[in-house]
Amino acid sequence: MKTLAIETSCDETSVAVLGPQGEVLANLVSSQVAVHAPYLGVVPELAARHHVEVLPRLMGALEQQGLLGDLELVAVTQGPGLIGSLLVGTCYASAFAYARNLPLSAVDHLEGHLVSPFMNLEGRPAEAIPDGALTLVVSGGHSSYFLFSQGRGVPLNRTRDDAAGEVFDKVAAALGLGYPGGPVVDRLAENGDPSAFRFSPPRIKDPHGELDFSFSGLKSAVIRKAQELGLAPLSDPQNPPREALDLLASFRAAVVSWLLAPLEVFCQRYQPPVVAAAGGVAANRLLRSELQRWGEASGVRVRIPPLALTTDNAAMIGRAGQLRAAAGLLADPLGLEPYARVSW
Ligand code: KG4
Ligand code: ZN
Repeated sequence: MKTLAIETSCDETSVAVLGPQGEVLANLVSSQVAVHAPYLGVVPELAARHHVEVLPRLMGALEQQGLLGDLELVAVTQGPGLIGSLLVGTCYASAFAYARNLPLSAVDHLEGHLVSPFMNLEGRPAEAIPDGALTLVVSGGHSSYFLFSQGRGVPLNRTRDDAAGEVFDKVAAALGLGYPGGPVVDRLAENGDPSAFRFSPPRIKDPHGELDFSFSGLKSAVIRKAQELGLAPLSDPQNPPREALDLLASFRAAVVSWLLAPLEVFCQRYQPPVVAAAGGVAANRLLRSELQRWGEASGVRVRIPPLALTTDNAAMIGRAGQLRAAAGLLADPLGLEPYARVSW
């Protein structure tokens, strides 16, 4: 089903058009980073207002490219996310679907991230997701492994406190490196020594959650170290001293090794045919290279989406919407209500 997709859950406004097999025909993303950067985080009111302005413009661009004819499905992110932002997308999508008499698919944002490793930006059909695929979803709001089973993702663990992306953002903010922090920390860490500082992994005593993540202790330890060294904030963020590069490299190495730590146990337990990573933090260079290396060493197929499909985008929502519609799950355009919190 040729699909129009809309994603407005946080601070990216995105629209996409997909061919019937998940071929990405267009994926437009308008980032609000410049709007929120002065506040070192997303301001919900500003985000919602920007979606209202930008969404019709992006739709106009799709129309001009002649991509809005012959549509057979509309997909939209229903949640989780910022409620005001979600309302803009769900109202627009509902009205569009109702006016054109098209079926509507309401997608969970995490479902979108989960299908993204099996998509491409070269216009080829999306791959089928094998049953038993193990996917690490790491973003600004989530850090969990999921097992793909009978068409849906079953969460295997979760974070006890901060999400991995959130920790990148907070450490960067403390050093005065701006928002969002992940990309800049990743770039600077390339020039530092990851063995310069040691951070001990958390011990979670709960027998039902020993494979859960916890990043807030690491965040505090890195910020404390930066303060001790007089690096919080940096006096010249454009030219950080060697100690700052070493601290960021050691921090990034700790996050990546803790994220990959549960892999062995989950692989022994579930024997996945493929291991994947998704979400904004899956843009991280070290995470990408370490996961690839792990795949080569262990002989397990690894899938990581192209960079443009790691951070929030409508293409992944379109594909998840197609899979939902194929399973007979459709939403009522006159009764669609967004939700802010994770639905599991
Ligand atoms: O998936 P996403 O765009 O939005 C959410 O659903 O949260 O993820 C955004 C998060 C931000 O915290 C950002 O700092 C982080 O992904 N991020 C990165 C990198 N690029 C983006 N974290 C580490 N390394 C990166 N290269
Ligand atoms: Zn996301």
